[in-house]
Amino acid sequence: MKMIKLGQNKTEVPAVIQGTMRFDTLTTKETAAMFENAMENGTNFIDTANCYGKPEGLVESIIGETFAENPGLREKLILQSKGGITFFEDGRPYHNYSKDHLLKTLDNSLRRMKTDHLDYFLLHRSDALFRPEEVAEAFEIMKKEGKVLHFGVSNEVPYGIELLQKYCTVPIEVNQMQFSVAHADMCVQPIATNNHEFYAVDRDGGILNYCRLKDITIQAWSPFQHGFIDGTFIDNPDYQELNDAMQRVADKYGVNKTTIAVAWILRHPADMQVVCGTTKQDRFSDCCKASEIELTYEDWYDIYLSAGYPIM
Ligand SMILES: NC(=O)c1ccc[n+]([C@@H]2O[C@H](COP(=O)([O-])OP(=O)(O)OC[C@H]3O[C@@H](n4cnc5c(N)ncnc54)[C@H](OP(=O)(O)O)[C@@H]3O)[C@@H](O)[C@H]2O)c1
Repeated sequence: MKMIKLGQNKTEVPAVIQGTMRFDTLTTKETAAMFENAMENGTNFIDTANCYGKPEGLVESIIGETFAENPGLREKLILQSKGGITFFEDGRPYHNYSKDHLLKTLDNSLRRMKTDHLDYFLLHRSDALFRPEEVAEAFEIMKKEGKVLHFGVSNEVPYGIELLQKYCTVPIEVNQMQFSVAHADMCVQPIATNNHEFYAVDRDGGILNYCRLKDITIQAWSPFQHGFIDGTFIDNPDYQELNDAMQRVADKYGVNKTTIAVAWILRHPADMQVVCGTTKQDRFSDCCKASEIELTYEDWYDIYLSAGYPIM
């Protein structure tokens, strides 16, 4: 497994993460088997969130029950969860980064997962009403009480991170962003810039280069989805040219397109982690195989062009 140095602390962690957003359909036995499979493939990094599954906390509860049934399992894992997305009683979501809410969210996550700490806690998606001083206070309490070791954000833009970091005494080490070969805007925009092209429009404030500059690790979520979690592009007839290119490259390395989709992200010199959300052991193993492959410039740009992105 490729290891990367995460964030400003340069903690060595595996490049492939097992995401659990879709684990609401799994039993505790299946969840344990997924975690064991991940470790056999060289990664012990698990990503979850308070809002995965319905009702709120369902996936964290399944993870907690899995830990209870498998003593010692929690200690083998790097456990990351996210907070800040919450729900009205009628199920509508909203965002809340207030100090009290974040502290309560964390305590609920710890209780549900039957653990006394998270390795990483991320703010999930920006709250229009957030006060950075409050987030800073919440992070300091979490850290002082030993409930969270490291902190990060998700779907956040550079000035949002700057604003937080002005007050936070702990470093923001992670930014979890949607990124895949079919959703690559953050690395396409710098190529298309200074042009009237669709991709020339800056929609994220230059987050990719900002994170590289600040040593913030990008965790690429939904590496197999197009649109906003609209379905996979693999074997999707709407992405025929892309699939053909991926198959060409897959044949060259003797692997499948699942492996190539992850290898394409790992090849980026930003040293991203990839959060793979499959609920199938064999597919997750294919994701991990990507760590053994280094795509050439030509492989990478062949896939890039076949996805329909511009070269100016
Ligand atoms: N920070 C955020 O805002 C955010 C948002 C969304 C997700 N996430 C994180 O990112 C993780 C991954 O997200 P995701 O589940 O949407 O992404 P994904 O890994 O791109 O997609 C996984 C889904 O694609 C299906 N799939 C179909 N063909 C596949 C193939 N050949 N290879 C792999 N998967 C294939 C899987 O089905 P099977 O299960 O049947 O294999 C599964 O339903 C989540 O679990 C979560 O931890 C974060």
